[in-house]
Amino acid sequence: MPDLGVNIDHVATIRQARRTVEPDPVWAAVLAELGGADGITVHLREDRRHIQDRDLRLLKQTVQVKLNLEMAAEESIVAIALDVRPTQATLVPERREEITTEGGLDVLGNLDRVKRAVETLADGGIDVSLFIDPDARQIEAARELGVHAVELHTGRYAEATAEADRERELDQLIEAGYLVREGGMLLHMGHGLTYRNVRPVAEIPDVSELNIGHSIVARAVMVGFEQAVTEMKALVSLG
Ligand code: PXP
Repeated sequence: MPDLGVNIDHVATIRQARRTVEPDPVWAAVLAELGGADGITVHLREDRRHIQDRDLRLLKQTVQVKLNLEMAAEESIVAIALDVRPTQATLVPERREEITTEGGLDVLGNLDRVKRAVETLADGGIDVSLFIDPDARQIEAARELGVHAVELHTGRYAEATAEADRERELDQLIEAGYLVREGGMLLHMGHGLTYRNVRPVAEIPDVSELNIGHSIVARAVMVGFEQAVTEMKALVSLG
């Protein structure tokens, strides 16, 4: 049974829409832990569009389960990671204009930069994971770098609408997962997983961590909306 890493970035996205103090992703992390999360995941983007440095530092002090920092292999962010020391750093590609992380990290195409980041983080006692597409060449590059884990990008599986396409993408994840485990790395998966599509991925042999964000935050808004309105209605109706 894989661990569930809950990505709380979009709690911060709502806060940043108003540059206010609520909702606080640190509160969300507490609730996620109470709900059974095995890990809390945040992405400190270079443009700080959602998670802020303050969030990461407070999460480091308060999170009792694994703290997984998604980050670009950039010097300034590596320096922050070394200072804060999350349990795990997941290296992801990052483009300012993207809405979310679009594809896996091109380890082969950025070998020197990725290698430097992997070595620096690992020397700092941080477990390093690489977020890559289910591609044999990228998995081999990850193995040569000696990383702790690989997180396979499940986006193509999640986006497939036709059943045959979904089956094909799932098979590709299963095959790539086998290569990851054969290479001696832990197998993680994530991106685009929802309440509807997660089961087949959770059942992939040897997958040890799933990172899920958007769908959980989206559902939280819905399952909590009625109560929030009821509470406000009671306040405005007093007296
Ligand atoms: N894993 C990685 C590496 C990611 O970059 C993201 C998105 O931040 C996720 C998992 C979670 O994706 P989603 O928000 O679609 O569940």
